[in-house]
Amino acid sequence: TPPDPRVLRDLAVRVATEAGELAAGGQAGVTVLDTKSSPTDVVTKMDRATEELIRSRLLAARPDDAILGEEGGEEHGDGGVRWVVDPIDGTVNYLYGQPDWGVAIAAEIDGEVVAAAVSVPRRGELYEAVLGGGSRRNGEALQAPPAVPLEQALVATGFGYFAERRAQQARVLLDVVPHIRDIRRGGSAAVDLTGLASGRCDAFYERGLHAWDWSAPGLIASEAGIRVGGPNGGPPSNDLVIAARPELYDALSALLAPLGADRD
Ligand code: IPD
Repeated sequence: TPPDPRVLRDLAVRVATEAGELAAGGQAGVTVLDTKSSPTDVVTKMDRATEELIRSRLLAARPDDAILGEEGGEEHGDGGVRWVVDPIDGTVNYLYGQPDWGVAIAAEIDGEVVAAAVSVPRRGELYEAVLGGGSRRNGEALQAPPAVPLEQALVATGFGYFAERRAQQARVLLDVVPHIRDIRRGGSAAVDLTGLASGRCDAFYERGLHAWDWSAPGLIASEAGIRVGGPNGGPPSNDLVIAARPELYDALSALLAPLGADRD
């Protein structure tokens, strides 16, 4: 029998909380350890140490599971669950002493995210969700506020790490900004998406994200009433993630589609 998603959620919550404390404790003295895909794509000692802690705790509880992590890649397993982990989402904020970064842990069964936890320690926020069971922030049920019209929407987005992609993202913004209330570039997709569920913005879109960026916060947002999808009515993908209350989602998708927001 497949594992109970509530049990997976409880494990994700425990591990995300501990990992968040570890990372928060190390933020003050942080320096860049390495760069990855480009000079702007940084990794710190804490990204790696936090992911190691998460992997060891998950595997101690469920030794046969698979894990996909931002820093350590894919570890195979046949325990019936794949964990998708971002140890520090918002590494640049983390590096600069800013509070908007989070630890994201999702549990997938047969390719579907069924349980999730996101810890945002410097905001004192712990989010959790189970597929079909709603989401909670610090133990309380979370419902996103109703949609606003596109022209009143505060829209969060982010930029990739490659110069060419960024140039295209800036061109898309030129045609988005005149149609909305304003833009926010928060620096962490996990904080953007959980913030969307919390009513701190009205919509989110970004090109070039990875499964570890959207899996956990995406379930938390969708269980709070947010539609989370990708290009052409499909699921979230590396090409594009869009999230908003359904009515606003449709308006934002219609605005983005002709602008090439899903390509470089
Ligand atoms: C990044 C953040 C950022 C987004 C980037 C992501 P990382 O994650 O979520 O907001 O714009 O595309 O890569 O690298 O800090 O884990």
